[in-house]
Formats: sequence, C-alpha cells, structure tokens
Amino acid sequence: MGVSGCGKSTIGKLLAQKLNIPFFDGDDFHPETNIKKMCSGKPLNDDDRQGWLETLNNLAKEQLTTNSCIIVCSALKEKYRTILNEGIQNNSEWVFLEGSFKQILDRINKRENHFMSSNLLKSQFKILEEPKNAIKIDVNLTPNAIVKMIKKELTVKSQFGLFGLGVMGKSLSRNLANKDFKISLFNRHVEKVEVDVAKNFKEQYSELSNAAAFDDIAAFVNSLQTPRKIMLMVNAGKTIDYVIEDLLPHLSENDILIDGGNSNYKKTKERNVYLKTKGIHFIGTGVSGGEEGALKGPSIMPSGDKEAYKQVQPYLEKISAKDKNDLPCCTYIGPEGSGQFIKMVHNGIEYVEMQLLAEVATILKAIGQNPDEISTTLESWKDTASSYLLEITTAIFKKKEGNDWLVNKILDKAGNKGTGNWTTIASAEFGVPSTLIASALFSRYVSFYKEERILLSKSFVTHSNSELNITTNDVLEAYQFARIINHYQGFKLIIEASNKSAWNLNISEIARIWTNGCIIRSTLMEDLVDVFKETTNILTDVELIEKVNQFKPSAKKVISQCVLNDLTTPALSEAIQFLNGITTEYASANVIQAQRDYFGSHTYQRLDDPSGKSHHTNWN
Ligand code: 6PG
Repeated sequence: MGVSGCGKSTIGKLLAQKLNIPFFDGDDFHPETNIKKMCSGKPLNDDDRQGWLETLNNLAKEQLTTNSCIIVCSALKEKYRTILNEGIQNNSEWVFLEGSFKQILDRINKRENHFMSSNLLKSQFKILEEPKNAIKIDVNLTPNAIVKMIKKELTVKSQFGLFGLGVMGKSLSRNLANKDFKISLFNRHVEKVEVDVAKNFKEQYSELSNAAAFDDIAAFVNSLQTPRKIMLMVNAGKTIDYVIEDLLPHLSENDILIDGGNSNYKKTKERNVYLKTKGIHFIGTGVSGGEEGALKGPSIMPSGDKEAYKQVQPYLEKISAKDKNDLPCCTYIGPEGSGQFIKMVHNGIEYVEMQLLAEVATILKAIGQNPDEISTTLESWKDTASSYLLEITTAIFKKKEGNDWLVNKILDKAGNKGTGNWTTIASAEFGVPSTLIASALFSRYVSFYKEERILLSKSFVTHSNSELNITTNDVLEAYQFARIINHYQGFKLIIEASNKSAWNLNISEIARIWTNGCIIRSTLMEDLVDVFKETTNILTDVELIEKVNQFKPSAKKVISQCVLNDLTTPALSEAIQFLNGITTEYASANVIQAQRDYFGSHTYQRLDDPSGKSHHTNWN
C-alpha cells in the first residue's frame, strides 16, 4: 500500500516473483462503473470503493485457502484497510511504502508519460492515514533492497513476543504456536539458575519448532515485526517496572506491551501514562484459567489504549476460550487498568467460591461423610450448581495417596498472592460492602495462625457435632444462596468502580467472557449474562429473587446449626447477614448517627425533615 507513485506495483511484482506466489494489482479489479467514472475524470467516493474493496478482500481470502499472494492497493484510509482485512487479520501483512510528498513527486516526474498532477498527489497525502501495524519501508531504497527488506520482515520476523516463561508464559506460548502464530520467546539468563530456558523450552514441544528463542533482550526485540507486540508474563509488582525499563531502549514508537499478570490496577494506570510519554502503548490484561486454561484457552480481560488493543485483538481472541456461542472469551474491557480491576474482582469472587466449598466440606464432614462421600455429594450437585470450582473440588476429595485421602494430609494454612487483599481494599475505597470477599480473605488469614489455633483450641470448650440436624439438600441450598450473594457483591464492586471511574464497563459482556476459560465459570455466570442485559442489580431479577427466597430457609437452618455446633462457616453466615442488611428498610444506623452526634457533633438527618438538613442535639 501507499500513495500513487510510491512504486507499489513494481515492488509487488518483484516480491511476488521472489516469493513465487501470485501477484494482483488492485486497480485491475474495479467494476465497470468505477472505471467509467475515473475515465470521465471524476474521483471515486467511499461508496464506489466499498464493493471493489470487498472484491479484493474475497480475492485474498480465496488465495489464502491454497496459498498466499501479493495484492497492491493504495488503501490510504484505515476503513479501507479494515474492509480489505476483514476475516483475515491473522494471515495478512501490510507493507507500507513510505516517502515524503517531495520524494514521491520527484519519482513521478522522473517517469516517462507520467499523468499524475502535483495536486492529485497532494490530495492523496491529505487523506492518507498512516497504518500503525504495517511493515514500513523507505521508497528511496532500490527495488531490490526494498524486496529484500520485506522478505526478511515477512519470513524471519515474529508476529508476537512472549516475555517470561513461567508456568503461565509457557502455556500461553504453546497456545499461540498451536494457533499458527509465529512467536519469539524470551526468558532471562541468570547464571546457574536460569540458563537457556527459552531454548530448552522450545526444544521440548514440537509446536514450538517455528518459534524463536532468546535470552538476550535486544535480539528478542529485534526478532519481532513492528509495531512489536510483546506480552509480559512476569511476576506482578516491581518486576514489571524493571522489565519495562530493560525493554524501553530497544523499543520503537507505537510498539505495544501487554501485561498479562495479576498487576494492581492502579499501577497499570500509572504505567499507561508513563509509557505514553515514551510513545509506547500499554495494555493491562487479566488472564484467567491457570496453567491449563492458558494452554487450551483462557478468559482474557484487556484494557487500556483501545486503538492499540485492535492490533493485538486477533492474537488474544484466537488464543482465548470460546463461549457457548463460539464467541471469544476476550473482549476490550475499558480504559486505564479496568481489565486488571475486573480480574482482581474475579479473584475476589473466586476466593469466596473456594471458601464456600471449603465450608460445605466442613459441614458434610461434620454430618459424617468421608472424603469419598463428600466427593459423591458434590458430584450430585453438578446438575443444579455446576461450576469449574465444584468440579475440581469433587475431584480433590476423591484423590487418594496410599490408603488415605490426599486432602487430609495437606497443611491447613491457605496462601494468597494478594488479589483478594486488593479487592477488599478496593471495596473499602469504593464504599462497597463486599463482606463475603473480606470474609473469605480473612478466613485465609485466620488459617495462617496455625500455632495460635492449636494453643487456643485447648482452652475453649467446643460443642460436639452430634446434633447437626441437616440434610445434604439443605447444604446445597445454603451453598446456592451464598453464591448468589457472592456474585451480587462482586459485580456490585465492578459496577460502582465503573461508575466512579467513568469506565463505562459492559457488565453483561464481562459475565459472558467469564462463562468459559476462567476459574469462576459456572452455569450461574451463564444466567447472569442475560440478567445483566436487563439490570445491573441481580437482586431485582425475578428468577433470582425467587431462588434467594427459596434457598433462604435452608441457609438459615444450616447456618444456625453450624453456630450451635461450633462449626466455622464465616462466608455462609455473612451471606445471610448481608441479605438481611440489604433488605432491611429501617436499619440500626440511626443509633450510630445518634452516637456520632453525641460525642462528636457530627450531626444527623431526620426522617421528618425531607430537606436533608443537618441536625444537632445537645444530648445531655
Ligand atoms: C486465575 C486465578 C489465578 C491465580 C491467582 C490467585 O484466574 O487463573 O485467579 O490468577 O490462581 O494467583 O491466587 P491466590 O489464591 O494465590 O491469591
């Protein structure tokens, strides 16, 4: 592509010859009406071009089914290129023959029988929207040199770079390679600790035979087509900043960095701003699904610069999981760090779903079930409460090591990497009562005080569990009840953050990309996709209201039995407390207001004064 006179036909023909593939001149495909119009000296408008561009797009598609080809076309506007590229984004490459107005005019004037006026050329430069994602070549080089450069870019350079080959980085690389993308891999070299990681990894898997492996940053960056697309899969936190600083001297304007780790969304916003000053685009993206998801199809939550996102969209969509309608579980989330924000909340919801299952297991154990029986009970819940986490927990309780169940041999201290902590902080900052998330997080913290728990367990009397008077169906209903409250709270946090940060997030789309690939995929999530098309408050949905009302008696029964029998079920209990709170018309906060006014003259508003005026009383 390029303006008239840039030499695209000459170069295109030569390149096609060298690559031994067919060549097509776009101008030969104009319909009769366009030719007539041009012959009469009238310029074509966008409507005239539409059908012609579609013809060229079909031509490219047809050629791609058997081989490759070179098509030359001025394609000056982005929207023309969008039509030309429709459906073949993964398999096409743009080459932009670039030169200044004066350079091109000189070239034209040197041609015999040239017909192009300087004004016509000027008008082409005026409408030219330079492509961001093309291989750019200087027209002043000789045709042979140009063809050599294009060939090198096309055949040697990689389309996508993966930086950091930890568990997730490795799986994502294999996923990209399995989708036929040409990739470059990088892992740092640390004497005696990390040596030839990329090279060894490449040799391990046949799908990586076409990938290029590096432990030298400059060589890695240079192996990529420009604008470069590099996904960072390194530890969240300071490491990201170090990596960015290491990469920066080697990058060029408009290159794109994608952070696929669980980074703090506020940091992502800062990095966005910082990298903009360096001419680099930054996309913070949540990636969920663990090792297996990353390999077979994760849920991907990209955010940041939308224009830059469009350039990585084909890659991310292709490697993502697909929903039940075969749509990618990957969508542009919104500006700033919104993708990482929703991933953080995803993890908060995940913490609760995990905690609820742990509490369910505690109850089932207390009513006398061994791990095999717990597994069987959970298995039977698949029809009504299906989720990935239920599925893996079912498998966990079945797993034996020798004669005993493995789960019984695991130290009861739950780890965490910080996202649940951040979600709880964000809830407090946005003023959203995510009580279940906080409860699930703090349960992990309590679990960590193992030594103190052992010590204190000796001093306090606990009830035996013999009086537990509940059925497994009661437990199932209590579990379903709490899951609805969990999803209400998690999405509430996203909605409030979206409103307060002016992110304008599409909540139904977020639920949709969480229906597959991610850790919290479930049939409930599938239901929420439709619920969020109608309302942002799931507790106003008729069917969910019905379910909550149906399950609440079981939830009350289970929780009260647990309290009476000294079973620890904080998340289940919070669910009831929260529903009671959020459905109470006149709450106890009047007392708090009176106390605040009493000791601090903080004032209060009165029910009998609709003006909302502040009142103060001398309480003595
Ligand atoms: C996912 C997971 C993943 C990971 C987190 C949570 O969606 O694939 O959420 O990101 O499991 O690191 O881990 P912690 O439990 O260690 O906080």
